Amino acid sequence: MIEIKGVSKTFNQRIGGNYKALDDITLTINKGEFVSLLGPSGCGKSTVLNLVAGFDTQTEGTIQVNGKKVTGAGADRVVVFQEHGLFPWLTVLDNVAFGLKQKGIAKKERHEMAMEQIKSVHLSRFADRYPHELSGGMKQRAAIARALAMDPEILLMDEPFAALDEQTRLILHKELEEIWMRTRKTILFITHNIREAVILSDRVLVMSTRPGTIKKEFAVKAARPRESSDSVLHHMEALIMDALADELEKVVREETGDEYSIKKNDFSGTASDSLGGGI
Ligand SMILES: Nc1ncnc2c1ncn2[C@@H]1O[C@H](COP(=O)(O)OP(=O)(O)O)[C@@H](O)[C@H]1O
Ligand SMILES: [Mg+2]
Repeated sequence: MIEIKGVSKTFNQRIGGNYKALDDITLTINKGEFVSLLGPSGCGKSTVLNLVAGFDTQTEGTIQVNGKKVTGAGADRVVVFQEHGLFPWLTVLDNVAFGLKQKGIAKKERHEMAMEQIKSVHLSRFADRYPHELSGGMKQRAAIARALAMDPEILLMDEPFAALDEQTRLILHKELEEIWMRTRKTILFITHNIREAVILSDRVLVMSTRPGTIKKEFAVKAARPRESSDSVLHHMEALIMDALADELEKVVREETGDEYSIKKNDFSGTASDSLGGGI
């Protein structure tokens, strides 16, 4: 379980001085839950993830994992980034086994453990390939296998599919859902993609921008495995688009001043409350 209480983060920027990136973030992610943080670029999503990962420290507030304060990186949390971060000089097998080697696990055993995870992301035939010999989707699968090999309780995923083409992303959504249903890892998933957040998550937390706060929370009560045609998902998407529209309007105003204007209704207006489900 991840508990974030009253967390704020101020950066000291080269230009502009102190910059408040996060303001009073409070949220709890239960064990085994799949939660997405959704918001426009620059709203502080990665900052939240980095704090939970222990890569950085908050200016105010506390973050606890299973009742213990986060003071740095830990084996209970593994991060998957947009950039796969595989070592180019190692094969898929050796990349996935790398952390196990660091742990001192003997070669035969760590290769077996790594192969099990490589199978789970359907890359068995490519275990002996090097990263440059893989497609973008395959590289992300390998990165997920490497994270799973460490068997962390928590997976922290920072826009892991953002650089992939639409079709590959849809396939990886299916695969990640299968992995989650099988392992019941606690997943904090960062995305700016509404569809992705809705199709994967139990809960979607919409962030507001500058400074980042949690603006609204949506429970996605659709059956699993998720079907892309499920009307509950379409309805949730529309509700979330509505919640995000104000933020997008704000971003456009800040970035373009009065050179360009866009109204909330340009983004939203399709949500109806007939199906319920929003919080
Ligand atoms: N290390 C840093 N130093 C200064 N400013 C930062 C740093 N990291 C992030 N920021 C600023 O904080 C804001 C939020 O960044 P980030 O969490 O990366 O947003 P997101 O992941 O939602 O796109 C941005 O305006 C960014 O410029
Ligand atoms: Mg980010």
